[in-house]
Amino acid sequence: MASITLQQIVKHYGDQPVLHGIDLAIRDGEFVALVGPSGCGKSTLLRAIAGLEPISGGEIRLGTRVLNDVAPRERNLAMVFQNYALYPHMTVAQNLGFSLKLQGVDKAQIARRVQEVAQVLGLAPLLGRHPRQLSGGQRQRVAMGRAIVRRPEAFLFDEPLSNLDAKLRVQMRTEIKALHQRLGTTTVYVTHDQVEAMTMADRIVVLKDGRVEQIGAPLELYDRPRNAFVAGFIGSPAMNFLAGRLALDGPPRVRTDDGLSLPLAGIPTAPGAVHGQRVLYGTRPEHWRIDGTQGSLPAEVIVVEPTGAETQVALRVGGQDVLAAFRERVGLASGDRLGLWPDAAQAHLFDAASGARLN
Ligand SMILES: Nc1ncnc2c1ncn2[C@@H]1O[C@H](COP(=O)(O)OP(=O)(O)OP(=O)(O)O)[C@@H](O)[C@H]1O
Ligand SMILES: [Mg+2]
Repeated sequence: MASITLQQIVKHYGDQPVLHGIDLAIRDGEFVALVGPSGCGKSTLLRAIAGLEPISGGEIRLGTRVLNDVAPRERNLAMVFQNYALYPHMTVAQNLGFSLKLQGVDKAQIARRVQEVAQVLGLAPLLGRHPRQLSGGQRQRVAMGRAIVRRPEAFLFDEPLSNLDAKLRVQMRTEIKALHQRLGTTTVYVTHDQVEAMTMADRIVVLKDGRVEQIGAPLELYDRPRNAFVAGFIGSPAMNFLAGRLALDGPPRVRTDDGLSLPLAGIPTAPGAVHGQRVLYGTRPEHWRIDGTQGSLPAEVIVVEPTGAETQVALRVGGQDVLAAFRERVGLASGDRLGLWPDAAQAHLFDAASGARLN
C-alpha cells in the first residue's frame, strides 16, 4: 500500500492540451473518485498513473518512489477497465492466477492466493467455469479478482461497472466499497456517475476540461460546492439555478428579472459580492417547501414524478424552472398552482459570470 502524489501533471495529445497541471495527493489507503463529464481527462489521468500514457510534464510518485520513468508492469499497480477482457479459454481459477504464473510464482502459492481471492469475492464455487458460463456481475468479480490477487500497492479502476445493469451496479458498488474497507488498498476510481462517486469515495475530485474544479469529501462537495459547475454536477436530481441580481439594500436577497424575491440567510461573504451583481441562486430540490403564506413564490406544477421514496415535481416559478423533491406525499397534479418557498439557510449563491461561490 502507498500514497499517490500527482504534481502539476500536464498532458498534450499532439498540440491539444488535455490535462493542465493536475495536483492531487492521495493518502495511503484512501478511496478517491475522479468524476467529470465525458472528455474531461479522467481516463487519461488514470492511464498516466498506470504508466500506459506518457505525460508531457509533472511528477507522479507512489509513496516516495518517482514513477515517471518506471515501466507500467514495474509500478505494482493493478488496473481494472470497463472492458475487462477475461481469457475465454481459461477457467476462472486460471484467469485469476495468470499474472502470478507470468511472475513465476510457484504453483502451490498460486493455488493458495487464488483460493483466498475467490473466498473474498464469492467466486469459490465458480473456479472451474469458463467466462462464457458466468453472468456479467460474476465476470466483473473475476476481473477484480485478477487485480486483487497481485496484491498491488494501489487499484486503478476505470468505469468498471458501466457495462452492468442498474441493479447489479448498485450491488457491485457496495461490494467494492466493502472490499476496500477490508483490504484498505489505495484506490483511484474513475466514473462519470456522480452517485457512484458520492457513495463509494472518501474524497471526490471533480474534473472539467483537464482541470480540477474541487477536491473534497462527498458531503463537503454537496453542501459547499466551490462553484456553479460542481454544484450542478454533484447531486441527483441536480441543483436548481435561478438567475437574478443580488440585492443588498435591505435584508439580503436575490431579485429575479420577473420581480421575485429569493431569501438569503446572511450577507454573502465573498469580497466580490456587490449590490446589483448578476448571480445564480442555487437550491437543491429537497430544500423547497410548499408554503401558502403571503409572500411565498407563486408556482405552477408542470409534471409530477413519484419515485416512491419521494415525489419530484417540476414547477414553473416566475419565468424559471424549478425541480422540487418532497419526502412527504403531496397530492399535486399538472396545472396546480401553489406557493413555494426555498430554505434560505440552504441557498447557494454564485456569480453569474464566473460561477464562483459567493456565500
Ligand atoms: N489517444 C488520443 N489521441 C488524441 N486525443 C485523445 C486521445 N485519447 C484521449 N484524447 C482526448 O483527450 C480528452 C480526454 O479524454 P479521456 O479519455 O481522458 O476523457 P474521459 O474523461 O475519460 O471521458 P469519458 O467519460 O468519455 O471516458 C478528450 O478530449 C479525448 O478526445
Ligand atoms: Mg474515460
